[in-house]
Amino acid sequence: MAAKILDGKKMSEALRLQISERVAALKQQGITPGLAVILVGNDPASEIYVRNKEKGCAETGIFSTTIHMSGETSQQELEDQIQALNADERFHGILVQLPLPAHLDERKALEKILPEKDVDGFHPVNAGQLLNGHPGVVACTPKGALYMIHQTGIDLTGKEAVVVGRSNIVGKPMAMLLLQENCTVTLCHSRTINLAEHTRRADILVAAVGKAGLIRGDMIKPGAVVIDVGINRIDGKVRGDVAFDEAEQVASWITPVPGGVGRMTITMLLQNTLEAAERSVHAE
Ligand code: GUN
Repeated sequence: MAAKILDGKKMSEALRLQISERVAALKQQGITPGLAVILVGNDPASEIYVRNKEKGCAETGIFSTTIHMSGETSQQELEDQIQALNADERFHGILVQLPLPAHLDERKALEKILPEKDVDGFHPVNAGQLLNGHPGVVACTPKGALYMIHQTGIDLTGKEAVVVGRSNIVGKPMAMLLLQENCTVTLCHSRTINLAEHTRRADILVAAVGKAGLIRGDMIKPGAVVIDVGINRIDGKVRGDVAFDEAEQVASWITPVPGGVGRMTITMLLQNTLEAAERSVHAE
């Protein structure tokens, strides 16, 4: 039987409506949620991401600015810009678009963002809060993926969850979120021996490695929920980490690529920005 589709486009539309309403309510109190994006250099993929962020902000009533810095920007100039945005009350969220040009220190830059304005959830304080199970800003992609998993209505307690990929941006925070949901979590990566042995046990399988079609149908447990975080550009087409045609014959639920998790990432960024603005009201 073919799997049911977790439609990121539809879910995003519904969520963005709710976000718009909460933005409007904040505006009534005299606060316009604001997001500042720093883009360094001219990476074409980054420019597309940033444009989509701007569109998402405009659609939901969030004020946004993109600060486009030259590819030759120094570390000091970048950090000065971040500090200026930390102090600027118009912005509740700051996002430094990654990857940065090779001469810049990504980690040092991200650590300069005030944790309460870190709408990417990449600051070590926010990563640590998640690890410890305390409230903080959660990275957008795993937050969106978890939202989609919840939409299946499946009780996650005690389920076997297998995450493939151990990045700080997706794999590790995803594993922590699933642990918080009382799943038994296995985190697989490039050095995992016999990947299929692990993935075949998964009731919830999250693929976030960046290898097109890595997860084949015979690596999936019948009835599993399959979440494909991969965005791989192959011959001008976007493909996920999961061989969709095979997987949909085995899984109970599956996210398509495109139109799945990718869609949700920006929606969660909008939500994180809104929540940062809401928190700023209570902090006053
Ligand atoms: N580059 C690709 N995805 C992301 C993201 O979610 N946040 C940031 N800051 N950079 C990215």
